[in-house]
Amino acid sequence: MRIVVLGAPGAGKGTHCSRIAEKYGVAHLSSGDILRRERAEGTELGRKAQSYMDSGTLVPDDLIVEMMSKATRAAGTAGYVLDGFPRTVNQAKALDESLDGQDGGIDIVVNLVVDDGVVVERITGRRSCPACGAVYHVKNMPPREDGVCDKDGVALVQRPDDTEEVVNNRLQTYYEQTEPVVEYYKTRRTVHDIDANEDADSVADIIFGRLDAVSRP
Ligand code: AP5
Repeated sequence: MRIVVLGAPGAGKGTHCSRIAEKYGVAHLSSGDILRRERAEGTELGRKAQSYMDSGTLVPDDLIVEMMSKATRAAGTAGYVLDGFPRTVNQAKALDESLDGQDGGIDIVVNLVVDDGVVVERITGRRSCPACGAVYHVKNMPPREDGVCDKDGVALVQRPDDTEEVVNNRLQTYYEQTEPVVEYYKTRRTVHDIDANEDADSVADIIFGRLDAVSRP
């Protein structure tokens, strides 16, 4: 199955894509996580991406399209869930072109819809594990032990772009460049708008219901 999950920063893309990957056995391809790995490894791509990520603007399309083409090609035959990609209409077009003629292309597009006020509260309270990438929230989804990952016991960190100032830039970037991607898909196929303001388990149940309806036997 090939799944696209769209949504503003903090809408819950990473949280739900990770649950989707586990339940449906697909690869979780997060453009943000791949970029952060490239940065941590000090690669040329990581160095090029750094200033864009820290300011809350988008990394140029050509770099992202090449990076995600590599990731989708390397994904197993079970398919993948795309988290944070495509993020511009040009990226969406490039994805369509790369999938042209490939077994029906994308199976489902899910759009997580969330209020701006919820975004700021979620992002400033997010903590993540630098080792395994698990995501928590200081209030909504705290780890069992304060500041420590449940899965591997590593100390949790706050992303450098999770300050209130950068979040506002990321939201502005989202409205200018990523919301048009939702419209792009809506002119071509059904887009499953899901109210993502609710608690994570309720949102996951709705998403799973939509995916079950399209999943291949
Ligand atoms: P990226 O890492 O993709 O960041 P983002 O899109 O801003 O999304 P987030 O990771 O902040 O949020 P999310 O929706 O995954 O929410 P999460 O599940 O963590 O991108 C970072 C940067 O990389 C970009 O700014 C850009 O520079 C660059 N980049 C990446 N992709 C690119 C591309 N395609 N093109 C160009 N540049 C690109 O949840 C957030 C918090 O809320 C967590 O603490 C979670 O526990 C909590 N939470 C989630 N759901 C709920 C819920 N229902 N109820 C309560 N709490 C919840």
